[in-house]
Amino acid sequence: MKWPLFLLGALVGSNKLRSAPTVGVIVVGDPAFQRRYEVQIKSIRCYADRHGYEMTVLAASEFPECKRFLDFFFRKHCTVSKFLETKPSEYTAAVFDGDVVVAAPNRGLDKWINHGADIQLYNRCLFHEIMAGNYMVRNTAFARDFLMRWALYYDRKPQGFSSSDNGAIQLVVMETIKVEGFDTCYDMYRKLTESVTNLKPYWDYVHCTKEAIGPARAWKMEGGSLTMWPRLEFFAADGVFLNRWASDEVGPIMHHGVKDPNDVTSFYYKDLDKCELNRSSVIRSAEQLGETALHLAQSYPEYFPAGRSCKQCAEHCMKSFSCEPLEDAEQPRPRQVSSGPSTFVLEDSPESRRHSWGWSRWQVK
Ligand SMILES: *[C@@H]1O[C@H](CO)[C@@H](O)[C@H](O)[C@H]1NC(C)=O
Repeated sequence: MKWPLFLLGALVGSNKLRSAPTVGVIVVGDPAFQRRYEVQIKSIRCYADRHGYEMTVLAASEFPECKRFLDFFFRKHCTVSKFLETKPSEYTAAVFDGDVVVAAPNRGLDKWINHGADIQLYNRCLFHEIMAGNYMVRNTAFARDFLMRWALYYDRKPQGFSSSDNGAIQLVVMETIKVEGFDTCYDMYRKLTESVTNLKPYWDYVHCTKEAIGPARAWKMEGGSLTMWPRLEFFAADGVFLNRWASDEVGPIMHHGVKDPNDVTSFYYKDLDKCELNRSSVIRSAEQLGETALHLAQSYPEYFPAGRSCKQCAEHCMKSFSCEPLEDAEQPRPRQVSSGPSTFVLEDSPESRRHSWGWSRWQVK
């Protein structure tokens, strides 16, 4: 639908659009990366303009305090933290890597903005890790500190393959939500000596952290909050697993992992200069997208708990994209660090290895 001009005028004159935007969309990439992902970034710019969000592209060379982080990905989080310091306290930012394309531009980020946690992260679709590339942060001391502590893992990187900021975020989350088991998992992290050709020790380490963190949850701490979204419930997801489809009503809005610019200009968009999506290739009904997500979940029980009997169980919620994070106090819940001795014992069994959503370890009795 096109808005009549006089209505647009009224909107522009309203307070909502006259005051500085309080939602920002931030893409971080060095100049080479910005050139490589030019069209992906353009789709994000279209989206930001459409929804009245502030678009910022950062090269991660803006802040002298971050220069010492020689690994780009650690420097990225330092840069976002410093950038937020220049913004008002009510600012909320969605942060992206460059290989992200907007697939459902009609929908805003309200669901996640209104969720309101200081830090929002998500579990990757068909990987065990927490996603490092895309996240949402409120401009609070808690969130800025989280980002800076993440960057500081640069100094603790082990000798072997640890997947840069992706290996580190697992520990930063554990520290932040104060679950038991940090020493056990950190010890495995420290001892990573293998190269990328042998990923086993790295996945063993990730397994430890996921066992400790348990199911996706909205954690509430004294100083702030951190929400981990279940798979496919965040605004970004690996679109290839959803046939690169999106919907005007439900599901992820952005697709991550779109490396080829041709995919953006020949599949996703009809005319990117006019911000025109190719709806016939991308947009499907909520029903059809839901079926696709449910089918995916049922095909990968190691990533999506099966059945109807739990809040995040695929047959219960996946079709409607309503698999919610557990509430802070909701069982099954791992224990947090207390003054007593740690009760964490790394469970390493075929059962615990089969999944990364933590249900079997934290059975509700
Ligand atoms: C839109 O996508 C369809 C299906 O992918 C394709 O056949 C068509 O050529 C595209 N339209 C434009 C204008 O790019």
